[in-house]
Amino acid sequence: MSELSFHGIAPARIQALLAQERATYAQRNPRSQALAAAASQHLMFGVPLHWMSDWGTPFALHVDHAQGARLHDVDGHSLVDFCLGDTGAMFGHSPPVVAQALSQRASRGLTAMLPGEDAAAVGALLAQRFGLPTWQFAMTATDANRFVLRWCRAATGRKVLLVFNGCYHGTVDDVFVDLVNGQPQQRDSLLGQVQDLTTTTRVVEFNDLAGLQAALAPGDVACVLAEPVMTNIGMVLPEPGFWEAAQALIRRHGSLLVMDETHTISSGPGGYARAHGLQPDAVVVGKPLGGGMPCAAYGFSATLAAQAEAAKRQAPPGHSGIGTTLTANLLAMAAMRATLTHLMTPEVYAPMLKRAATLAEGLKQVISRHGLPWCVTHVGARAEFQFCATAPRNGSEAGAAMDAELEHALHLALLNRGVLITPFHNMMLVCPDTTDADVACLLQAMDEVLSLLKAPAA
Ligand SMILES: Cc1ncc(COP(=O)(O)O)c(C=O)c1O
Repeated sequence: MSELSFHGIAPARIQALLAQERATYAQRNPRSQALAAAASQHLMFGVPLHWMSDWGTPFALHVDHAQGARLHDVDGHSLVDFCLGDTGAMFGHSPPVVAQALSQRASRGLTAMLPGEDAAAVGALLAQRFGLPTWQFAMTATDANRFVLRWCRAATGRKVLLVFNGCYHGTVDDVFVDLVNGQPQQRDSLLGQVQDLTTTTRVVEFNDLAGLQAALAPGDVACVLAEPVMTNIGMVLPEPGFWEAAQALIRRHGSLLVMDETHTISSGPGGYARAHGLQPDAVVVGKPLGGGMPCAAYGFSATLAAQAEAAKRQAPPGHSGIGTTLTANLLAMAAMRATLTHLMTPEVYAPMLKRAATLAEGLKQVISRHGLPWCVTHVGARAEFQFCATAPRNGSEAGAAMDAELEHALHLALLNRGVLITPFHNMMLVCPDTTDADVACLLQAMDEVLSLLKAPAA
């Protein structure tokens, strides 16, 4: 009998499943394979963005069309999509209200580097949803985070950024500092980064109030940039009272709290902070804000907005280092207006939240039926299974519970059974179009795959 890994599965079983599922995938997807071969002629790594080759499939799955909770690949398979463009399509693929707003705008000017009639309306809707009065825009959440960091440094006159170990806030270079044996270390995988990020980025473990206090104590931290729930190293929930105490500490040390709600916007129409009564100085929202159109926004408290405006006014004329030409273009503003008005509402969220709870409970049952020491973490419309018995308390624990090979095997096996989940970890998101039957389909596929993984080696 082969030895079991920490997660209760034998490496030999993972290898066997991977080999079998890779063969099945290749046989099921000839058209994707042909398109991947053609793309490799002129696209680096054979894909338009190199991450697209990191899914664990032998070659990239190519999409024909996507609608609601379904993604249809070029080989004619209809897949239940729990990845939803890793939250970009959280309101379902091509929501009709957004498609309509886009088509109405599309023939009347796409981009002008000037506002149109949607700008003020979008600002007012954002203020109403998130409870912060003053807003600016970006094309991606990455850019929004980068710009907020600039504003916070300019507003406070402080240099240091504080983040939680294992965080991800897009490809903002400053955040790629890890805690390794308690010491900050720039991530080795960063390409072409020539600055020493550890001089201006401090990193502590999530849920560690003593660590946070020590890191804030020198009084040089401009802002703490955090997801209210960590979602990018597996999910890590805040312990009860953590954020209330953390907020008080951050305030006491004259630093700002920026909550990146790019993923936790799945908790409700005002994000996790609004749903849980937290009061950050700034909020970042991206991904689904335009119903799938590239756009992002960030909001400031009145105090921070006044400080940021003063910093800009006092600076010499010229480039601020904040903004891009296409930011807040007419098409993006139309998409945000439609999304905020029709989709970011309690009525739309209610069934998503309910169905995600069903999914999380169902997953727990499937995992327990197979006797695996895995846990399920659930927040809002999002759930994640992790290869550890108890929910991780911080990024180090969550990272230690990961196994890329097992993840690849599982994801590929689910894909071959008509279910897509988020790559790079084990996250599933429910959109307004996800049905009970879709959830049942995921649970059944999971049950089948776990049976294969638990079967004795042939
Ligand atoms: C919390 C968080 N912030 C920001 C980003 C960056 O979003 P984008 O890649 O759309 O810039 C991500 C992406 O996964 C994210 O998870």
